[in-house]
Amino acid sequence: MKVIIVKNYEEASQKALEVMLGVIKNKPDANLGLATGSTPKRLYELMREDHKVNGTSYKKIKTFNLDEYFGLSQDHPQSYYYFMCTNLFNELDINMDNVHVPRGSGDIDKECKNYNQLLKDNPLDIQLLGIGSNGHIGFNEPGTSFDSVTHKVDLKESTIKDNARLFFNGNIDEVPKQAVSMGIANIMDAKKVLLIACGENKAEAIKATIDGKQTIDMPASVLQNHDDCIMIIDEAAARLLETR
Ligand code: PGA
Repeated sequence: MKVIIVKNYEEASQKALEVMLGVIKNKPDANLGLATGSTPKRLYELMREDHKVNGTSYKKIKTFNLDEYFGLSQDHPQSYYYFMCTNLFNELDINMDNVHVPRGSGDIDKECKNYNQLLKDNPLDIQLLGIGSNGHIGFNEPGTSFDSVTHKVDLKESTIKDNARLFFNGNIDEVPKQAVSMGIANIMDAKKVLLIACGENKAEAIKATIDGKQTIDMPASVLQNHDDCIMIIDEAAARLLETR
């Protein structure tokens, strides 16, 4: 793992932009694995700016998102598809036929199988990741097998409650109970992995991921085995690391 420690979220996002653009410039028809959450928002903003100012083209790029809630239509404001459109795709010259986010409707088992096949047919040149404060990557919570491929996730009661409060006006019935997520093996198959972690609340997970032993109880620790994994970490999240 290559660990890069930067001052703050802005620097982390700038550094991540460099890595992302490096992949795109080197291979204009690259397959990008993308992520949702608060962490990549500034990176996506910088990618939009770069496209506008420098004309980096996404015409031949294909994208594959890590995960999606099951039970929300693509135009639902809380769906990850909607997040990706509003935070990134709407302002790029990307062909929307080349955009892939697991479908949040239909037969969930079939969707997992289809998405997994899609990933096999389109090896990822880079996978972008955030990290949960418990070390999750995608919806791969602690305890998920390192051999897992795209699978159905039953959301924990606590997650459903948190989401109801944060995103669904307290209405628990509206919160999806399941999600589709790339598995850990899919993430490890990406040629390059770029993980961004910022903020105090990620410090323990980052310490366990980098300094700790590999265990399914800390899903991100699997990345110790990846040949080309870059971790961009701000000072707050790097606070507990032994070697800094
Ligand atoms: P965050 O989430 O970017 O909103 O901190 C990261 C994650 O849970 O994977």
